[in-house]
Formats: sequence, structure tokens, C-alpha cells
Amino acid sequence: MANRFEKIARKSVLNIKPYVPGKPIEEVQRELGLKNVIKLASNENPLGPSKLAAKAARASIAGVNLYPEGSAYKLRNVLAEQLKVKPENLIFGNGSNELLNLIALAFVETGDEVIYSALSFVAYPIAVEGAGGTTVLIPHKQFRHDMEGFTKGLSLKTKLVFLCNPNNPTGAIITKKEVEAFLTKVPANVLVVLDEAYFEFVGDAEYPDGLTYIEKYPNVIVLRTFSKIYGLAGLRIGYGVAHQDIIEIVERVRPPFNTSIPAQAAALAALGDKAHLKKTVKTNNEGKKFLYAGFEKLGIKYVKTQGNFIFVEFKTNGKGVFEALLKRGVIIRPMYDNFGRITVGTMKENKKLIKALEFLD
Ligand SMILES: Cc1ncc(COP(=O)(O)O)c(C=O)c1O
Repeated sequence: MANRFEKIARKSVLNIKPYVPGKPIEEVQRELGLKNVIKLASNENPLGPSKLAAKAARASIAGVNLYPEGSAYKLRNVLAEQLKVKPENLIFGNGSNELLNLIALAFVETGDEVIYSALSFVAYPIAVEGAGGTTVLIPHKQFRHDMEGFTKGLSLKTKLVFLCNPNNPTGAIITKKEVEAFLTKVPANVLVVLDEAYFEFVGDAEYPDGLTYIEKYPNVIVLRTFSKIYGLAGLRIGYGVAHQDIIEIVERVRPPFNTSIPAQAAALAALGDKAHLKKTVKTNNEGKKFLYAGFEKLGIKYVKTQGNFIFVEFKTNGKGVFEALLKRGVIIRPMYDNFGRITVGTMKENKKLIKALEFLD
């Protein structure tokens, strides 16, 4: 039966395809009666959170009868110092995903166009259409952002551009040269969001640091998160860095207590645990190499990644592979046709995945 409230819902909301998250471990255990299940579906940190961050979150619980400090004062100041920006250049979100929505809510009006790449982060259309904007998709070029296509896609109606760097789900980067050439062509009244959720994993010299642009280009917003390398996805905290004038406008639509006390405490402690970051990068690099070799042996094609996930092309339908792997206690992310995305796990998890794939072969 049709939903009776569709008649009164905003038209733009009816177009939205709801976000489908990675299948939770508990759900697979319940549905398939399995004990040992691993999740390589949501690009989380397989090593867990930093021990210092977990300790700080636990200690903060005693104070959760009070609302959090909405400005995240301590975290803001420490992070500003680390990033070499001013505290006024920062905004915190309930994950960087919330900031995508808030930016769209603050700037996008009905009729405005928002440009992003095909085969990119699925939360972009939700943010744009939720705000009543129109999405303009630029076809990808061999799984990479086509920056010439982006330039051609700019119109008088363009309000916002999302550049996902490295791109989820393909793991490809947009190079410094490409980003810089594009920024010179974007009018000053068009915002460019550089979504750098996987920034800390990248080891390519051609990769740009978005923060180096915010002085020269006041229309640039850099988004980063504590969900990925910092291992705090379940606490929900991310941040944006931009010119104070942009931050001031997005702040107007930010819910007052959008980042929790434990999330702020954990994020602050995580910033002081560089050893955890280093170990995570090392685990990821070793895992990538191991998985590449495993995929090659099995004839599974893949795109070389700069993130903590790999975009693969199976020999058969991705959904079928996903279902078969579930039965063997491995959750991946199926995509369209024969494609899928697999998060790099611990070595034990990577071995379990390859074994399960060998079994299917
Ligand atoms: C490219 C990209 N941006 C943003 C996010 C949002 O992450 P969070 O809201 O956990 O900070 C994700 C999460 O998967 C992502 O892949």
C-alpha cells in the first residue's frame, strides 16, 4: 500500500533513496546462526579505538547528566593547534556526514545545482535532495573523478561541488594538480567541499592537503572525521575546516548539542595517540598488499586504493558473492553488477576473507 503521507512530504524527499548501511555483525549472527562473523563493509578501523580514547570516553560518562559544551571548546583548541588553523575555522558534526547535511541545508536552495562524481559517496544525494537541490552527476573516468567533466558541469545554477578525496568507494585520489586547476576555474560564489574522510591513510605524493587551500580559496570546505583512522565511528564525531564566514553560516543550522560528551572526550584523547594512528596505517598498508596478492591469485580485478577499502570486480554478480560470503561469516559491501567494496581488516580478518573467496571459486 502506498504511504499515505507521501502526498504531504516534500517532493525532493520522495526522490531520496535511503542510505543502506553495511550489514551489522549481530544481524548476520542472528539470521544465519553464526558465531564468528567479521565485518569488512563500512571502512571502520579494524584495530578498534585508541585505548586512550576509550579510557577518556569511559571517564566522561560520569558527567553525562549535563549537556555537552556545544562548541567543543577543548577539542576545538587542541585540534586547531594541530592543524595550524584558527579555532574559528572549525565546526564539529555528529560525524562528518552531519556536516554534509548542514552545509546543504545552509546553502542549497530549490533550483540550485550540486555537482559530484558518479560512483562516489552515497550520502551526497541525500544531503542535496534533502535540502531541495538538484544533483548533477559527472561520469567517472576509469573509476577516477573526471575533473574536466566537473569544469564543464559548472553552470550559473551551481551552488556546491563535492570532491571525495580519496573517493569512496573506488579509493582513487584526485591529484594536487587536478584540484588546483579546478579551484582556479570555480567562481568565488560556488562552494567546494573537499571530503577527506580517509586523509590520514593516503601515501601518495600527488595527494593534496585540502587545508592548504582555505586561505587562498575562502569557498573551500575541508571535511574530516574521527570515524575512520581514529576508530571512533560509533561515537559520531567529525569536523569541517573553512573560512570563518562559511563556518558562521553553517553554525546557524547546527543542532546545539550535536556532538556528545564521550565523543568530544574520546576525540581529544585520540589526537594525542599518534602511535595508534601509525599502527593503523601500517596494518592497512600490509593488509592492502596481502589482499592485492590474494585477489590476483583468484582473478578478482581491483582498483589500487589510497584508503582503507578496496573496490573489486568479481567474476560473478557482487550480490551473489556477498550472500555466499555471509554464510562463511564475512560481511562485505556489494555494489552494482559484479562490483563490491571490501574494507581492509586485520591480517587475521584478511586471511579469513581470502579463504572464503577461495572456497567460492
Ligand atoms: C567519503 C566519506 N565521507 C564521509 C563519511 C562519513 O563519515 P562519518 O559521518 O562517520 O564521519 C564517510 C563514511 O563512510 C565517507 O566514506
